[in-house]
Amino acid sequence: MTEERRKFATRSIHAGEAPDRATGARGVPIHQSATFAFDSYDQIRSWEDGHEPHFQYSRESNPTVQTLEAKIADLEGGEATIATNSGMAAISAVLLHFAANGGHIIASSQLFGATGDFLENEISALGGSITRLDLRDLSAVERAIRPETRLIHCESVSNPLLHVADVPALAELAHRHGAALSVDNTFLSPVLYRPIEDGVDLVIHSATKYLSGSGQTVGGVVTGRSELIEPIRKHVFRLGTYMQPFTAWLIIMGCKTVSLRVDRHLENTQRLAELLEDHPAVAQVNYPGLPSNDGHTTLQRMNGGQAGGLLSFRLHDDPDTTRAFIDALELCTVAVSLGEPLTLIWPYRDGLIRLAVGLEDSDDLAHDLTLGLEAAQRVIDSVRSTR
Ligand SMILES: Cc1ncc(COP(=O)(O)O)c(C=O)c1O
Repeated sequence: MTEERRKFATRSIHAGEAPDRATGARGVPIHQSATFAFDSYDQIRSWEDGHEPHFQYSRESNPTVQTLEAKIADLEGGEATIATNSGMAAISAVLLHFAANGGHIIASSQLFGATGDFLENEISALGGSITRLDLRDLSAVERAIRPETRLIHCESVSNPLLHVADVPALAELAHRHGAALSVDNTFLSPVLYRPIEDGVDLVIHSATKYLSGSGQTVGGVVTGRSELIEPIRKHVFRLGTYMQPFTAWLIIMGCKTVSLRVDRHLENTQRLAELLEDHPAVAQVNYPGLPSNDGHTTLQRMNGGQAGGLLSFRLHDDPDTTRAFIDALELCTVAVSLGEPLTLIWPYRDGLIRLAVGLEDSDDLAHDLTLGLEAAQRVIDSVRSTR
């Protein structure tokens, strides 16, 4: 069987890897070295002229990081990947590239906070401009396109409201107007959705999340055609935001189990979303895996409706109910982030609660949420009885 015909789970284990030529070691070595030695003057010139591959310095290239890059490119179905020292380093390198020299970027109004912050506070300083709008309104997106529009940027499923972007339609629209589409696919992971198959130019992940899966490191990846990745790679070199070898090794280890883990995240999250939707203390659940969600049909077209391991919701009569809910939990960890074995929960100041469902037994998670919901319901009942 040729490598191209192997299935995702097989490639997540094998792609990009080979036994170490020097030692035969089958495990991926961590090349924890800042610099790489050359044998001779002629070898340096031959490497510089592109005749002989070699590594020079780990801010620009490293064998362990390159193994991860080859694996991710394979999993995404892209030509090349650049690995960075955080998801934000990946996103900012992409946005920087398209904003340079007066570029205009259309970005979703619903994005991870730090991405929004970068767009609002860095792009104009770089000479670019932005328009932010609800990308679910495709005709508004088309009206916002200008001659200098170079990029449309969105999250396939957004953080934290889980809006679903119609990625195939946005790709068609961007290309019709000579722009590129970049998609932050962190929430879905390449297990559930591979945007390049739907015509996307650049797919970005915070590899901190599902790809690593351990919650023990921070990293990012961008994948696309080589002609786009190579200039973005140059930005990463100049900024000094290339990934560290130990981080790459942790993410390589994570990739090997990503299919199994994401399936479990998905199963657990669907169960908890249904539990929350049915509870009288809950005012609203955002999870496109629920048929009641307005992104459900779009996601069904994109990947059969598999919405990933994160949901958000609101309780009635916040903020006292939210406090009671959070403080009654015994198993969920109150922390940001997602894609970890542990279930993480985070209450925003505006009453939105984000639940990043982990890999625990769903009976235990359902029990823990029920403890919180019962505490919230007691507050709701007492608030209503005094009205
Ligand atoms: C959707 C999304 N994109 C990007 C990021 C940023 O990734 P990192 O924290 O690895 O920089 C996050 C972080 O939570 C995220 O949720």
